[in-house]
Amino acid sequence: MKIIVAKNYREMSKIAADLVVRQIKRKPASVLGLATGHTPFELYDDLVQAYRRGKVSFKKVKTFNLDEYAGLGENNRSSCHYYMKNKFFKKVDLSKKNIFIPDGRAADLKKECAAYERKIRRAGGVDLQILGIGLDGHIGFNEPGSNFSSKTRLVKLAESTRRANAKYFGGRALVPQSAVTMGLGTILKAKKVILLASGREKAAIVKLTLRGKADKITPASVLRKHPQVTVILDKTAAELIKLPK
Ligand code: GLP
Repeated sequence: MKIIVAKNYREMSKIAADLVVRQIKRKPASVLGLATGHTPFELYDDLVQAYRRGKVSFKKVKTFNLDEYAGLGENNRSSCHYYMKNKFFKKVDLSKKNIFIPDGRAADLKKECAAYERKIRRAGGVDLQILGIGLDGHIGFNEPGSNFSSKTRLVKLAESTRRANAKYFGGRALVPQSAVTMGLGTILKAKKVILLASGREKAAIVKLTLRGKADKITPASVLRKHPQVTVILDKTAAELIKLPK
């Protein structure tokens, strides 16, 4: 596990964007695993900039998003799909047929989850997975207690997650109770992973993830079992971990 401590959020985003661009240059038909949330916000801005400057093309790239709220579709402003569409998809040359996000409005969500796993497999698996981390250590929407071998599935959201994400919904009561998420086992299968964390409020969970016990209580600790993880932290998110000089 490689740990990079960036000066600030700006630098963290830039380092991550450079790694994504490098991946696509090496393999133009890369399969990217994408995350939403505040953390990768400027990473997407940087990727859009890189595309506009002609440094990268997403023409052959496929993307698979980690998760979606149950019941929400792409036109709902609080959905992951809406976020991705406005923040990234419509600003680059990705082909619509190469964009995959679980459909939170599917009539049969169980079937939707199984189909999503198949689509990832058929695409050859994720080459590079981008992750943020929740305050309780969730990645995707894999809350504490999730099995390390779990697959894409319907999950109940922790109250702390609903509280943290209330800002995207105009109040906690409006946050759905459940979501579809890639599983921890699904995430572990990605060939490479980038985990991002920014801000002092993430410092404790970053410490637990990287230095605590690797178990179900801290879902992100599953990444310690992965051979190719790059953790990119800003200074404040890294302030509770000791790093070799
Ligand atoms: C959300 C998402 C995650 C995200 C995390 C952190 O609930 N499901 O994919 O990484 O929580 O969010 P943020 O980056 O806004 O702190």
